[in-house]
Amino acid sequence: MCGIIGYIGAKPAKQEILQSLQLLEYRGYDSAGLCCFENDKLKLIKKKGKVSTLITACENEFVTAHCGIGHTRWATHGDPSDKNAHPHLSENNNVAIVHNGIIENFESLKGNLQKNGTRFRSETDSEVIAQLLQKSKCESELKKVQELSTLLKGSYAIAILFKELSNQIFAIKKNSPLILGKANDGLYLSSDVNALIGKTSEYYIMQENDIIWIDNQDVYLFDSNLRAKDIEYQPLTLTTQDISRGTFEHYMHKEIMQVPQAIELTMTEFEPMQNPLTRIPAELIKSAEHFSIIGCGTAYNAGNTISYYARQRDIFVDCYYASEYRYEKFLSRKNEVCIFISQSGETADTIEALKKAKEHNIPTIVVTNVASSTLNKLADYILPTKAGPEIAVASTKAYSAQITALYAFIDYVYCIKNGINCRSCILKDKLKDICDKLKSYDLSIIDNIANQLKNIERVFFIGRGVDFATSQEASLKLKEISNIHSEALYAGELKHGTLALIDENTVVIVIATQKELLEKTINSVYEIKARGAKVIMLTQFEVSIDAVDILVSLPQTDQLLMAEVSIYPLQMLAYKTALYKGLDPDKPRNLAKSVTVE
Ligand code: M6R
Repeated sequence: MCGIIGYIGAKPAKQEILQSLQLLEYRGYDSAGLCCFENDKLKLIKKKGKVSTLITACENEFVTAHCGIGHTRWATHGDPSDKNAHPHLSENNNVAIVHNGIIENFESLKGNLQKNGTRFRSETDSEVIAQLLQKSKCESELKKVQELSTLLKGSYAIAILFKELSNQIFAIKKNSPLILGKANDGLYLSSDVNALIGKTSEYYIMQENDIIWIDNQDVYLFDSNLRAKDIEYQPLTLTTQDISRGTFEHYMHKEIMQVPQAIELTMTEFEPMQNPLTRIPAELIKSAEHFSIIGCGTAYNAGNTISYYARQRDIFVDCYYASEYRYEKFLSRKNEVCIFISQSGETADTIEALKKAKEHNIPTIVVTNVASSTLNKLADYILPTKAGPEIAVASTKAYSAQITALYAFIDYVYCIKNGINCRSCILKDKLKDICDKLKSYDLSIIDNIANQLKNIERVFFIGRGVDFATSQEASLKLKEISNIHSEALYAGELKHGTLALIDENTVVIVIATQKELLEKTINSVYEIKARGAKVIMLTQFEVSIDAVDILVSLPQTDQLLMAEVSIYPLQMLAYKTALYKGLDPDKPRNLAKSVTVE
């Protein structure tokens, strides 16, 4: 949610900031802006719309600038507009700020400032930061920045320019990510490491309440009491190849095609010799009586999918949406282990849920795709997924990698609980077989289905058991990027209400990968067809059902792992449907990739 960037160095600031904003755009894309020092003044340009609009507006501007800050916005307070876009200036234009997060007490702060005559230009919570800095009576800019942390409540990563201090940038962070990048000829601040790839060789992840002061090429790090800290940089190993679209028109397409690779690389990570599972003490697993899986959106769906696999191994797992788990009347069960899933590792609801578990001394395991993420820092144990950077807002390869890591985890738990010498190799062979089959899977039938979906009002995904979990993920994917109203249902639940919505304007997509549930699912197919809906069925079984309009044959593999297979064509279906509707699948309406606000 919102991406911020700062640059100071030998290169033109405009070029560095705009390039990085494009890489941060998946965090929000309703408006963007740039403010640089030019001739010792703060010059600002900001525009409603995508970063490309800002690039056009800046074409002949900022020619001599070597220091500045930029922002790409996902609106929380105030509609997407030029005036609500960041950077925000103080009333006297002497302070410029960009902010990612939410200032929860902005109304009272703003009220007080207004009482004293300050005039605001925007409806945002963020503008209050610039105004507070202008009004501060502290003797130095550094102290003014420090004072902010005593005034602001909520979450923030903030980069600041003071007109009086040419070519200097200040930054402060709490509960929102901010990274310092170091190159030979410049320094960067960024909401995430992806925007620094190809620019810097080293980076430092700012810790809670850190304050940074960059004075030309010198950089100073302080804690909240302004005590100096050492900056411990780490190498940045990702390459521009990892974040490029290559020959694909959209990131989402590239990322779906990378699903087999994401599964393989993640599985390799769990090879016995370097097994992150073995870092989780066997004693902890042995004594664990309850496993809770917590996540949001696709990450939650991955947890739900795996709960079916776990049950087959007599391991019982409860799944919670992170935004709800936090407010549960706490279960405080004995011997509980919590597993948090998050592609980004920065989702605010998931982070807060993990903090809540820690408050209750519950051991925490995270499944994340970003090694430098906040969740990785906070958790007791890490199960890394190796999907590589996922840029499209809709999560695809990360989901497949998440369930891969969790299959391995559940097998590990099973072995420990049953005193079996754990060897992930069998699972590895099975997943290798799945990957080979996915790589050669002909998806051409999906194109035809997508073309038919483009004019449909309602789509239901139904399934039983694990196929219901896949239905949830497929439904989320479709609604997220094609804007078609879609819902997932247990196949057996249709007749208890939703059948009322089934008519000839409806498509029902049936997932049937579990042999013992097939017959019952076929009953539902006839019930749907009798109400006039079009039925599309995905299965690996050889069936001939006249009530099915289109049959999508899935590659045959171990039934327990079919979730890894069945989602693949459905991710592609969502992608293709968005294309047929003329929508940008990488940047769906109203959404952003990394949801760093609660
Ligand atoms: O980074 P996370 O995995 O924590 O993100 C969680 C959700 O915001 C995310 O999965 C979202 O639902 C996706 N856009 C779905 O495609």
